[in-house]
This record gives sequence, C-alpha cells and structure tokens, in this order.
Amino acid sequence: MIYLDNNATTVIRPEVLEVMSHCWREHFANPASQHRAGRRAQRALEDARESIAQHLGANASTYSPDRVIFTSGGTEANNLALFGLNARAPGKVIVSSIEHPSILGAATELARCGVDVQTIRTRNDGVVDSAHLGELLEQSPTRLVSVMMVNNETGVLQPIEKLAQLCAAANVPLHTDAVQAVGKINVRFSDLNVAAMTVTPHKFHGPVGIGALLVRSDVAVMPILYGGSQQLSSRPGTEPVALVAGMRCALELATQELDSHSRVMAVLRDRFEVIVSQELKDAVFIGRNAQRAPHTTCVAFPGVDRQAALMALDLAGIACSTGSACASGSSEPSPALLAMGCTHEIVRSALRFSVSVLTKEAEVIQAAQRVVQTIAKLRR
Ligand SMILES: Cc1ncc(COP(=O)(O)O)c(C=O)c1O
Repeated sequence: MIYLDNNATTVIRPEVLEVMSHCWREHFANPASQHRAGRRAQRALEDARESIAQHLGANASTYSPDRVIFTSGGTEANNLALFGLNARAPGKVIVSSIEHPSILGAATELARCGVDVQTIRTRNDGVVDSAHLGELLEQSPTRLVSVMMVNNETGVLQPIEKLAQLCAAANVPLHTDAVQAVGKINVRFSDLNVAAMTVTPHKFHGPVGIGALLVRSDVAVMPILYGGSQQLSSRPGTEPVALVAGMRCALELATQELDSHSRVMAVLRDRFEVIVSQELKDAVFIGRNAQRAPHTTCVAFPGVDRQAALMALDLAGIACSTGSACASGSSEPSPALLAMGCTHEIVRSALRFSVSVLTKEAEVIQAAQRVVQTIAKLRR
C-alpha cells in the first residue's frame, strides 16, 4: 500500500512512540495528584507545554504557558475556539467558506442557537477574499473571526497576516486553524498577530487523540466542558501526559529541519503532478495557481466518479481521499471546492493526494503511474 492520505493522519514516528511508552511507564500518575508521583507527572506535563509553546513560536509577551490548552484533537480545539473565544461579547461570528467541517459544523450550531454567522467568500484560486472580510467587519459588530492557515483539501495558503491586520484594526480576535500548516510551513504564533491557533500532532507523525488551542494572553476563553479545575478550568479532565509528551517530541522533530522537510514534500508533490499531467492532459489541479503548502495536491479527472476512483485506487494499492476525512464517505460535494467556484463535474471527480516527509520518491512515481492507469481504465 502506498500511503498518500497524510492529511487525514500520518504514521507515528518510532522516536515518538519511544517517548510515549517511557512516559506511560514513568509518569502514569495523575498530574493533579499531590504525592511525589503526581508531582513528577505534573512537571513532565508543564515542561512539555512550555516546549510546545516555544516550538510554535509563542513568546512570553503574547503567551503564558497555561494558555496552551490541551484538547482531544483539532476538532475539539476548533469547537473550543468557536464557542469559547470572546464568547461573552456581542456581535456576529465570521468564518471562511472553505473551513474544515469542525469549524463549519460549530458555526452551524452557533447559528442554530441564534448567533449571526457570516461567511467570507473565497476566490477561484482557493484564497479567502480578504476584501470581503473587510466589508463584513464594517457592517456590524463582530466578536470572532476564524480562518484556516492551510486548506486541508487543496493545500492553498491563506493570507492570515493580512486578515489579522484587518481584524486588529477592527479590534476583533482572529482564530486560525493551523492543523495542516504546522510541520509543513513555518508557523510563529506571536508573529501572526492572531488571538488563538489550533494544532494537532497526528498530522506530523505524532499521536492521534491530542491537540491544543494556543490562546494569546489578553484573550478570554470560556470552557465548553465543565467539572474540573485542570488547565485553569478552561478544559477540565485529566491531562494525558504521555500523549502530550508525544506531541512535544513530534513537534520538536517536525520543526527541527522544517525547511528541508518542506522542500522534500514539495519535490514529491511536484513529481506526482508532473507525471499525472503529462499522461492525463485533462486533469485539473485545483488551487495550483495559488501559493500552496508543500504536501497536498487536489486533482480532478473530468468524467470519472471520485468514489469509484478511490475504490479502484485502493484495489491498486494507493491510499488517497475524496477530501476531508471527516466528510469522506459522505456523498455530499465538497463545500470548500464549490466555494472556490469549481463546477459540480470537477468536484465530483476530485481526489486528494497528500505526502509526508517520510514518503519515498519511488512511492510517488509508482503511485502516479498507477493513478494514470486506473483513471484510463475507469474511462474505458
Ligand atoms: C484543517 C483541519 N482542521 C481540523 C481537523 C480535525 O482534527 P482532528 O482530526 O484532530 O479532530 C483536521 C483533520 O483533518 C483538519 O485537516
């Protein structure tokens, strides 16, 4: 099996497994317990929190260690952002039209509860329309804006710094979902001027079941879970020390040689695209005209049903996806691709291939050749 579904999740690195296994053995105690074993677990937890903040570029002026709020993953961190950030303030919530279902679903629930939710348009190249955000901010008071850093289906980079300037001028907090950005592009929390940011390590060879919301020190966050005083009550529940240690290790490894990792992934992605485009002249690479993170290609094969193609590729030994893992299996067309103005025909035939730094060049070449053969066969 050639695994090209790294945007859904990645294989865990052996070094990370080793750290977690040690931690489960040595720091199994509850970090809230007052005995020595509990205090040691607490120290391991807080050391990891500090390292994670540093590696995500949070500096002491915008951040204090207790504001890395650990959650069960990206979905929970995004929900905490939408329901919890600046929640007491009046005004509308603005999200982009290409967000992950964990933001769009939370926004739908907010709307059901009576909150005014507005959506920012996306340009045809897959970039969120910052001028439209400017207009929306001028129309009526806003309590929160949320725009992702890298789109999970196309890999298109979003203009977070520009959007942050607009939000700062309007004095509105901006949350960014950086789940597909960390480990792929340079992410420095404090330089971005955002109020909060979502990350999860299972997208960069860390464990699944853990994530975090980084929150700038001047921003209020209300909990969405109740009943414990852990993490200053902003996210109660016993902290999974070993998962946090695994997240720390994965992040350290992902950021150590980020530039070379990014180059490796871009070469792999480009290699794949060149082979496919040479053989299948009508293949449409969605978002290719915009700046993209290096790990993702979204390609449509007009006339071919994406679900049939996915199954045929699975039989041919290629793991890819029809879009967001949270929405896959659903027959609904991708809202993100539709928001970019793709036709239904393009959306119906689009597949996502995503590499990681551990993907081999030979695998990508093999995979591209098998994609070409499989699509040709389906067309016959
Ligand atoms: C952009 C983005 N945000 C959020 C998530 C959800 O993260 P998790 O699977 O950890 O809940 C994903 C997962 O695919 C994602 O790609």
